Amino acid sequence: MNAIDKIAISNRYERTIETSKRVRWDIEKDVIRARRFDTTHKFLPDGLSLVDGFTTLSSDEKRFVSQIQGRTYANIFGLVERFINAKVLELSHDHWFGDQVALEALVRFSNEELKHQALFRRIDAMIDDVLPGGYRFDIDPNGVARAVLGKSTWAVLGLTLDIELFTQLHYRQSIDPDAELSELFKDVFLYHWREESQHAIIDELEWVRVDAALTMEQRDRAVDELIELVAAVDGIVQAQAKADATYFAAACGRAVGEAEAPMIEAAFLKAYRWQYIHSGVQHPQFGKVLSSLITEKQGQRIQAALATLQ
Ligand SMILES: [Fe+2]
Ligand SMILES: [Fe+2]
Repeated sequence: MNAIDKIAISNRYERTIETSKRVRWDIEKDVIRARRFDTTHKFLPDGLSLVDGFTTLSSDEKRFVSQIQGRTYANIFGLVERFINAKVLELSHDHWFGDQVALEALVRFSNEELKHQALFRRIDAMIDDVLPGGYRFDIDPNGVARAVLGKSTWAVLGLTLDIELFTQLHYRQSIDPDAELSELFKDVFLYHWREESQHAIIDELEWVRVDAALTMEQRDRAVDELIELVAAVDGIVQAQAKADATYFAAACGRAVGEAEAPMIEAAFLKAYRWQYIHSGVQHPQFGKVLSSLITEKQGQRIQAALATLQ
């Protein structure tokens, strides 16, 4: 890399630091503001919860579904941010005795991700206060993080960029006019997205940097690992769709029939695949960065794997 490219990259890290300082927020003072969740509101917007797909449910039941999904949203983010933060700390090692601007950008990234995990734990506890008992989220964030970090950095950064780009789309869905949507949950999307925007830029810079050191064979293996990671995310959302459908049936106040139960579970799964896989993969910036790193054949391999998750 020539000196001009190095300066241009350092400037991009620097801009993330400036923005990170400008938008920085506090969980209680800015996001929660002494509010509570109100169960007359939806927690996730329709464009994420895909409630129209829950065709057998009443409008009150659909609102309950959006609240269950809101709680799962907090838990899933708490989970993915565990491995994202560990990877960011690991990557910071490459900059210890190098570009100190890049190092600061990664340190801020890590600090924000720790705060986000605390925010999502808080949101989970606040939802627990207002929804019926019996909700389960049994996936261990540390176990998932250990498994994810066993894959190559290239693959983990690919998955991470997907995740950090979809928080943008989730925010955009949350600002669609809908008077029934919880103002508090809308603020969760807003504040989270404000810091995630910098993370997505850093992911891209780090992904390209790590990619440049790989041989063609290593990258080809990493493409397979990215596919394995997406399949692992799918395994998580399948398990949670099952858990959430079971919780819905137990807490909705009526009997859910044998024919209806699998339809509800399938609708949860469709929503979760949209929220946690496809909404990021379809982001134009994700396609742009990924296609700049891989061959057409590798791209087809990824697309074929994604097509099985519909
Ligand atoms: Fe985050
Ligand atoms: Fe992030």
